Amino acid sequence: MRPLKIAEGIYDVGVKDWNIRDFHGYATHRGTSYNAFLIVDDDKVVLIDTVKEPFTQELLENIRKVIDPKKIDCIISNHSEMDHSGALPRVLHLIGEEKPVYCSKMGEKALTAHFNDKKINTQVVKPGSEMKLGKYTLSFIETRMLHWPDSMFTYIKEAGILFSSDAFGQHYASHENFDDEMGEGLFDHAKTYFANILLPFAPRVEKLLESIQDMGLTLNMICPDHGILWRKHPEKIIARYGAWARQENREKVIVIYDTMWNSTEKMAKEIVDGARSTGVEVIPMKVRNWDRSDIITELMDARALVVGSPTLNNEIFPTLCDVLTYIKGLKPRGKLGAAFGSYGWSGEAVKLLNKELDAMAFERIDEGLRTLYVPDKESLKASFDYGVRIGEAVKAKSSAQE
Ligand code: FEO
Repeated sequence: MRPLKIAEGIYDVGVKDWNIRDFHGYATHRGTSYNAFLIVDDDKVVLIDTVKEPFTQELLENIRKVIDPKKIDCIISNHSEMDHSGALPRVLHLIGEEKPVYCSKMGEKALTAHFNDKKINTQVVKPGSEMKLGKYTLSFIETRMLHWPDSMFTYIKEAGILFSSDAFGQHYASHENFDDEMGEGLFDHAKTYFANILLPFAPRVEKLLESIQDMGLTLNMICPDHGILWRKHPEKIIARYGAWARQENREKVIVIYDTMWNSTEKMAKEIVDGARSTGVEVIPMKVRNWDRSDIITELMDARALVVGSPTLNNEIFPTLCDVLTYIKGLKPRGKLGAAFGSYGWSGEAVKLLNKELDAMAFERIDEGLRTLYVPDKESLKASFDYGVRIGEAVKAKSSAQE
């Protein structure tokens, strides 16, 4: 139900997108929400972020239930990506195109480039600067590259509310609105979100968490632009972000593979069994049946990535290329890597997979394992033993890091 009152004079006027299933390549099995926040104070009425363009009317209706949208004095754009700025031109058209849109320096650049046929009255806010609204005071925190160059947070010091843009969000549309209405499953959604959106910027997340601590911010509530709002235990999501940003790995192996005539799959099964026999957790993922966003989520806290591909036309099987490109861009760190596959005559795939693992700065266990055509009894045994070797390497790495 929107508008959702979250504090005195503060409302979530955003929308839920129940039906989206692909968010630029991220499989959103449970939809998402585009949260936008209206603050009605004594001297100023402010809207923080907007929504995706097709939901503009719904946003305006939600605002209307609180106040005439024309009474909005200014908009704060924490983030210019289109899921938060798409409605901006139509909202400005209604409330007055001269109204200021406060944003970061990079936000000004991004908004100008996105809406290059419009004149938006962008006003750059300096990090740390404040804006008095009446009983509330807003301050602005630069969070560059979390996850775009323009990203920033807005904080209300009197209420201890942090509007955190994409950070601490989840792609999750639900009847519930707050963390205390949800069980532990909420953290699974937040983890998937972190793995797919914030992982490449993990070192910056660590620094941000430190600086939030240094600033001594009181955090009564964290309100991201997607999903559930953290009002009961904001410290819990901060703690999870710390662990995810440090990329803390477990004794867990992900085996991703595809197959042409089941030979690579037979190898995969033996490798999985072999690794599992050492006591480590192993997740087999045939890439044709898994979304790439679920693969990176599983990989995020795994110690090793094992990749299997047949050789097709002297290349890696194309489905693997998709997943590896996605993983590489998200920059998981501190992993072991291994490759395997069946081949017919030239058999380049394993060598090419090794190159991919090297490009991701994974520590390769060895040169990989290949089988000619269909694995025989001996090859199956070699695959099982390879799995054992991988499992042992994972355990050795874990002991070394304890
Ligand atoms: Fe939710 Fe980066 O946009």
